[in-house]
Amino acid sequence: MCGIVGYVGPRPVIDVLVPGLAHLEYRGYDSAGIALNHGNSLSVLKRAGRIADLRLLIDQESLDDAISGIGHTRWATHGAPNSGNAHPHVDCDRGVAVVHNGIIENWAVLKEKLIGAGHEFESDTDSEVVAHMIEDMGDVPLAEAVRRVMNQAEGALALAVMRRSEPDVLVGARRGSPLVVGRGDGENFLASDIPAFLEHTREMVVVDDDRVVELRADSVSLTDLEGNAIEPVQHKVDWNFEAAERDGYPTFMLKEIYEQPHAIADTLAGRVSPTGQVVLDELEIDGRMLRAIDKVFVVACGTSYHAAMMAKYAIERWARLPVEIDIASEFRYRDPVLDSRSLVIGISQSGETIDTLAAVRYARAQGSLVIGVSNVVESALAREADAVLYTRAGPEIGVAATKTFTTQLVAMQLLGLYLAQVRGAVDPGAVEVLVTEMLRLPDQVESVLSTSDAIEKLSRDWTDTRDYFFLGRSGDFPVAMEGALKLKEIAYVRAEGYAAGEMKHGPIALIEEGVVVVGVVTDSHVRTKTLSNMEEMKARGGTIVLVAEEGDDVGNVADHVIRVPAGPDLLCTVTAVVPLQLLAYHIATARGMDVDKPRNLAKTVTVE
Ligand code: G6P
Repeated sequence: MCGIVGYVGPRPVIDVLVPGLAHLEYRGYDSAGIALNHGNSLSVLKRAGRIADLRLLIDQESLDDAISGIGHTRWATHGAPNSGNAHPHVDCDRGVAVVHNGIIENWAVLKEKLIGAGHEFESDTDSEVVAHMIEDMGDVPLAEAVRRVMNQAEGALALAVMRRSEPDVLVGARRGSPLVVGRGDGENFLASDIPAFLEHTREMVVVDDDRVVELRADSVSLTDLEGNAIEPVQHKVDWNFEAAERDGYPTFMLKEIYEQPHAIADTLAGRVSPTGQVVLDELEIDGRMLRAIDKVFVVACGTSYHAAMMAKYAIERWARLPVEIDIASEFRYRDPVLDSRSLVIGISQSGETIDTLAAVRYARAQGSLVIGVSNVVESALAREADAVLYTRAGPEIGVAATKTFTTQLVAMQLLGLYLAQVRGAVDPGAVEVLVTEMLRLPDQVESVLSTSDAIEKLSRDWTDTRDYFFLGRSGDFPVAMEGALKLKEIAYVRAEGYAAGEMKHGPIALIEEGVVVVGVVTDSHVRTKTLSNMEEMKARGGTIVLVAEEGDDVGNVADHVIRVPAGPDLLCTVTAVVPLQLLAYHIATARGMDVDKPRNLAKTVTVE
């Protein structure tokens, strides 16, 4: 997963490409580069490091005459993250420049053939083959050459390509990895994601899979891989550019943590009837189909998997359907028993995670009904699923998921109640009680956010602590898992999320003085058991922190108690995770980490 940007038009090209790349840095940031087409030559500037490092290479004046250009910010897949492997890549003659997002699975075969034909390669990447393939085709118009590349290349890829001899043309192509066109007045943009061009235009065209797009300053033509013309469908982007900016917060992550009340309210909006029932007509699934379901599978990765864990409890408890959950990358390989009575729910905030996409494709091939839960409208998951339930968190730029997670929890709670309603598994009165409580979540999260300073103070003692455990049972278990993941991701300390009751079967051996043990005790039917487990940790010297509901007497096991508003089991997951996001945030910033761009991670992972 990398960020691609392209521009053709009258502005100084680097002034579009470089800020565009900066908006895409969340997609990868181990190297960056641009190529500019001056008509008689291509200039390529690239280096390891971030966009800020790339800026140091730019000598504006000598580049001002460019007619078009492409840029790239990389998250390494093939080849080390060094300057040589940074994109753009060029052919032997420096006549073609290419940026690529994804993986060309048959690159080795293609490369060998090209080497056999005399081509010389400069990098270890799979992407470079594209430039040489196009060079090898000779005098074929660029768009046609890219179609041929797409017909030969296997795997998920998005490309932006230009050629010295066609300086007013930019060609993009997509299969699997995202690509959008921004349409301007006498100028056009190409990008992996909208923020790259949002300051210039709100008119966009989504490039579908197996499509090639040819941009000139005044035209956008789309074709399939046979070259048949396809009418581009234009949409208006209706969110603000400011929404993708930091808004005065020191980091995107903190801003996004504070946006949660709003994001949750948006995710609930219009999905609850005046009589307190869940309305998910948007799914457009016939009730008979949902009643025929006899098993549910939920597949997801990373933070989204923790939402899947909560979903299992919610669907089993409310809809009385058996639920299996799977880390998406494991799903296909265990030969799951699926059929037309299985409902498979894929959760992915980006909707682009290849493991999750592969899992839902597999499920559809078995004839199962697939619901996608995504934060990105028109994402690959949204388009591939039979039905889609959007979280409405708005763009999330911080790599560590926060508002997309709490909105996933809310979406899965809505879906669990909806399935229960449609199947008659729960009394409408009980749904009404829960839904009424859900509508209080935005205010409750707001009140947890007001404890941020206290959490920051608490965390000061632990700046150098290296070992944490996060424990919970039942609905508190996914919260604990997410608390641990947040800390690992952004503070780079060892943090294990564990089922509190399972500690005694092994990991308790690791508890000693200096280990911080965070227990989550908001799930009423297991809280006493978790509290006893916490006593066991205390007896071994652990520093005990509890996340407990206001008014809950948790005795004197804890060294510190963080309070969250009381609420029904499972719904509490939404409030209980917020102090853990803040805890991770404050520990990481005190340790001097770049929380928005943690090392080795990328926001969207489009490789297996
Ligand atoms: C990456 C991100 C994680 C995220 C996971 C799943 O690994 O770094 O924060 O949870 O992908 O992403 P998805 O977009 O499918 O929810």
